[in-house]
Parts: sequence; structure tokens; C-alpha cells
Amino acid sequence: MRPGQQIPIQHEQEARPLKRRHSASYYVHRARDSLTTRVSKIICGIFLTLLFIGGVAAFIAWLSLRPHRPRIHIRDFSIPGLDQPTGFDNAEIIFNITARNSNQAIGYYYDSVEALVYYRSQVIGSAPLVDSFYQEPKNTTILYKVLSGATLNMTSDLWTEFTKDRAVGTVVFRVDITGLVRFKVSTWDSKRHRMHTNCDVGVSPDGSILASYKNKRCPVYFT
Ligand SMILES: *[C@@H]1O[C@H](CO)[C@@H](O)[C@H](O)[C@H]1NC(C)=O
Ligand SMILES: *[C@@H]1O[C@H](CO)[C@@H](O)[C@H](O)[C@H]1NC(C)=O
Ligand SMILES: *[C@@H]1O[C@H](CO)[C@@H](O)[C@H](O)[C@H]1NC(C)=O
Repeated sequence: MRPGQQIPIQHEQEARPLKRRHSASYYVHRARDSLTTRVSKIICGIFLTLLFIGGVAAFIAWLSLRPHRPRIHIRDFSIPGLDQPTGFDNAEIIFNITARNSNQAIGYYYDSVEALVYYRSQVIGSAPLVDSFYQEPKNTTILYKVLSGATLNMTSDLWTEFTKDRAVGTVVFRVDITGLVRFKVSTWDSKRHRMHTNCDVGVSPDGSILASYKNKRCPVYFT
């Protein structure tokens, strides 16, 4: 900075006492002006604070009401006797799948929940799982089922296919859980939505679930 710049500032400071020699009405006017500015600043401040609090409240409400899809996990799956050449005679498919409602405030009504077990896009077993039920928030339902006999569509040809896969070390099946779901928020019920979940599950040559598939989360779709 140039030292000369300070001189005008000093002049201004000296000039100030002169400025104060205004009429009384000038000062009343100025005071009124600054009061208006201050009041409008306060109102503005209050308004912004309210807006902020409202925003935070809305955000919290949204967080707690934000709907989550059901969380479906495959806990266990087995086909005992997979290593027996004639195992299809008394074949069983045993699975344990959990469905969790992880919402804070949204309940689910489940209807017509069914399980279909696929092997290479062919249905090899199906069964209804549970009657209609209401699942409250933060609750987990276990869908455990043993499919056997008439619920299975197992043939010796199919079993031969399994045996071929078994030689490679993994037989992959797919479990599709379907159902109708309604959402309940307080006293409001949504319409029914069809839910699908596709769980690929691999079993080892002895027919028990492979560690890499255990507790896997299954994708859930609504149509
Ligand atoms: C199914 O899996 C859940 C979670 O791992 C477990 O708590 C439950 O005991 C299992 N049920 C059966 C019948 O195996
Ligand atoms: C889940 O719901 C069932 C039936 O309403 C109830 O018996 C059970 O205690 C609930 N579990 C939890 C963890 O809230
Ligand atoms: C059994 O499999 C056959 C051939 O894929 C199919 O046509 C039939 O609908 C299946 N039956 C059941 C009960 O899944």
C-alpha cells in the first residue's frame, strides 16, 4: 500500500465530528431507519430459524417413514441325499429364509406367500408358505419349509442333471418367494403390491448350502 493512502482516511475521520452537527430530526430519522433495519433483521432471523427447524423436522420424519423393502436373507438350504444316485425317490428340499421389516413405522401385511424352487429355469418344487400375516416394524419372520413328495417335481432325469453339476462341485438352485404386500403407515393402508425375491443358492456335492451363499441377501422386486 502506498503511504499516501492513509491521508484521506484521516481526513474522513476528522470530518466525522462535522457530520454529527445535523438537526435533531435527522437523528430521529436515522434512529428510526436503524430500528426498522434491526426489526426486519430479527424477523428475517426468526423466519430462517423456523424454516431450518421445520426442515430438520421434515428430514427426521422422512428418515423414520422412508419405506424400506422387506429384507430377505437365505439362512439355510439343503437337498439331503444329493449324493445318492436314486435320491430323487425320497427327495426333500429344506430351506430357511428370513424376511425382515426394517422400517421404523411401516408395517407389512403379507398375503399368499409362496415359494418356488427353480433349477435352470424349471420349477422343481413349490408350496404356499404362510397364511396372511401382519408384520410389525422391526420384526423378522422365519420362512422355514420342507418340500417333499407331491410338492416336488423331481424326476430321475433331473437328478442325473444334478449329479453332473455335482461333479463340478456346485449345484445352483434359485428360490423365488412371491407374495402380496400391503404397507401400513399409522391408519393408512396401501394397495397390494406383488413382491418377488430371487435367491440363487449353491449347494455342495453333499447337498448342503455352500458357505458363500449362506446369509446372502436376496434382491426384492415389486411389480
Ligand atoms: C432359521 O434361521 C434363523 C436365523 O438364522 C434361526 O434363528 C432359526 O432358528 C432357523 N430356523 C430353523 C427351523 O432352522
Ligand atoms: C415379532 O412379531 C411377533 C408376532 O407379532 C411377536 O410374537 C414377536 O415378539 C415379534 N418379535 C420382535 C423381535 O419384536
Ligand atoms: C413339473 O415340470 C413339468 C415340466 O417342466 C411342468 O410342465 C409341470 O408344470 C411341473 N409341475 C409342477 C407341479 O411344478
